[in-house]
Amino acid sequence: MAWIRCGMKVLAAGALAAIAACSGGSNSDQRFADSSNGADWPGYGRTFGEQHFSPLDEINAGTVGRLSLAWSLDLPAGNTVSQPIKVDTTLYFVTGQAIVHAVDAATGKPLWEHDPKVGEAAGFKMRYAWGTRGLVWYDGRIYVGTMDGRLIALDAATGKEVWAVQTISKGSRNYITGAPRVFGGKVLIGFGGADVGPARGYVTAYDATSGKQLWQWFTVPGDPAKGFENKAMAMAAKTWAGEWWKLGGGGTVWNAMSYDPETDTVFLGTGNGSPWNHKARSDGKGDNLFLASIVALDGRTGSYKWHYQVNPGETWDYTATNDMALATLKTGGKPRKVLITAPKNGFLYVLDRTNGKLISAEPFAKITWASRIDLATGRPVESPEARYPAGSTAVVWPSDRGAHNWSPMAYSPQSRLAYIPVNEKAGSWADYGLAGAAWRKDMPVGDLQTAAMFDLYPKTGDPLDGTSKLLAFDVVNGRIAWSQPTPGPLGGGVMASGGNLVFQGRLDGRFNAYQADNGHLLWSFDAHAPVQAPPISYSVGGRQYVTVLSGAGTGVAFIGPPMARLAMDYRTQPRRVLTFALDGNAPLPGAKPAALAPFADPGFKADATQLPRGYFLFATRCLMCHGVDAVGAGAAPDLRASPVPLEQAAFAQVVEGGGLVAAGMPRFTDISDADLAAIRQYIRSRAAAWRAQGAGK
Ligand code: HEC
Repeated sequence: MAWIRCGMKVLAAGALAAIAACSGGSNSDQRFADSSNGADWPGYGRTFGEQHFSPLDEINAGTVGRLSLAWSLDLPAGNTVSQPIKVDTTLYFVTGQAIVHAVDAATGKPLWEHDPKVGEAAGFKMRYAWGTRGLVWYDGRIYVGTMDGRLIALDAATGKEVWAVQTISKGSRNYITGAPRVFGGKVLIGFGGADVGPARGYVTAYDATSGKQLWQWFTVPGDPAKGFENKAMAMAAKTWAGEWWKLGGGGTVWNAMSYDPETDTVFLGTGNGSPWNHKARSDGKGDNLFLASIVALDGRTGSYKWHYQVNPGETWDYTATNDMALATLKTGGKPRKVLITAPKNGFLYVLDRTNGKLISAEPFAKITWASRIDLATGRPVESPEARYPAGSTAVVWPSDRGAHNWSPMAYSPQSRLAYIPVNEKAGSWADYGLAGAAWRKDMPVGDLQTAAMFDLYPKTGDPLDGTSKLLAFDVVNGRIAWSQPTPGPLGGGVMASGGNLVFQGRLDGRFNAYQADNGHLLWSFDAHAPVQAPPISYSVGGRQYVTVLSGAGTGVAFIGPPMARLAMDYRTQPRRVLTFALDGNAPLPGAKPAALAPFADPGFKADATQLPRGYFLFATRCLMCHGVDAVGAGAAPDLRASPVPLEQAAFAQVVEGGGLVAAGMPRFTDISDADLAAIRQYIRSRAAAWRAQGAGK
């Protein structure tokens, strides 16, 4: 029996009853308890504490050699990087434009599908499509967010829509890609968009049953002339300068949230500044709260409790939106309730989650923007030149992609190691942006033009590729326990399990299991397609399963040329749900993706006058899906291998006419004929360069 304080009331209760009593929630909250047995995986990261850890141990370091395919399900082209969830006997996952699928968790038999018709609803927001990364179950419902900003509740048994609310303005450049979170009868959702135009971050809590709005919390202050929404905003406004509100400010909560039921506290990971450049955003002054921060809110009211900012005056797209694992750790001889996060900036932070106090911050990757985090002040000791002073350029580690991005890490309470998919790459920074566009306050917003990053290939270290690894970090002692190199500059999401195992997919199509305590590779499966999605584990009828989605999605387009070696064609790479169990006996699906070749283009005439404009337009509007240097990376077709750019009319039909909107190709209504011709010239010149290297012969 424990005594639990809920607001003003003191209750004598067992922990699970206390969760429901404190938060006003239903029994559904019990499924999200960190102590649950692992049969279900109902939300992102499995439980409220989001450790991406399964306690199940039938599949373990001793038995994993017998792990094989139990069933698989082919999926249509489109984004396949979401983390599935499993409740009772059903597996749910989301693909493409927020299409939710329900299948039998033991056999893969399809049960229902729900298509929210995002292509039709999203309009110009489609061009920022990063793909939905997850969904959540609560009390017989499935909740998912869409690009166009809807939060949708579906009946978990039938897939019928129960309610839908519009959570962001339709005319904004904001969109939802992250998984909603649930607790105490509420659904919580944020959004993204601070890279592509003005965005002022907020999260909104809705009643899970009715969809009624309960509370909303902004992450950055608005126009002071209009008054501040709460004391936290008045406090934050003191850390901003200039007319920041005209540019939004940023701080979107596009990915990470976790929840502590004992104290009814929600933790938010907030994003980068909008625009990125601190000088452009806030006259180069002030910390700019609550950008790049961990913020704790009261779950019932949404009021501010505390914050910890990882990057004061953020200016490199260093978000703090990476997953936050909650754990109890013994430090200084006593157990402490902590929050563990490994944000883009390359330090692994351990915070006391009862008050936000910094316990430790140790580097887990190459870092040059700061030498260390001062534990006394909690602030970084920055390298001044990393802020690209006027007229200078700075090569800074890590890049805007971050030492760790959205692919979740896992934390094992058994090994006390955090397993981080680490990216190592530098970024180039200056006051101008991608494709050399000078940043101006009056420039048309959007399409990555707010960036201060100007070169995707800094000439430092291993410029073209960057490297990546799976790194096990000893959270208690602040040091690296082991690491395994992974191919390319980006690794897949991670899951740890009670069987002393760590699972991770890779860009080259391998899905691997490592021994959690020493990093030895124990098992490997060839998916023939990049595996970026976070795996999960669950049990049905006492049998343990491991599930992951295969197929390229969010982020690979920014890799470009290094992806060419992996030759992952958008249309022919096998996108699947892959479910494994001990002694599984499903046939191995074959079929490697088809090899790509440049399209023959005998009529091509190089026109150097059009090229710079074509490059600029491609880099700012098309690159994020069709790849750096027009090298398709599997997230959209390789346009060098397409006949469509050869004909102005066919090209215009797709790009302006919106002929492929339902398939995920946005409609661009704001590109002139001359600009379309310039983009075609650029794409065809890239194909010619590929042919000159001997491709397609
Ligand atoms: C948000 C992601 C995204 C962006 C941004 C994007 N595309 Fe696409 N594009 C796609 C997808 C996905 C397809 C494949 C649709 C399908 O399955 O037919 C596609 C298909 C195409 C095709 C047809 C290729 C073929 O062989 O069928 C062309 C041409 C094209 N895009 C050009 C462009 C241009 C030019 C831009 C920039 C002005 C652009 N796209 C921006 C996602 C995108």
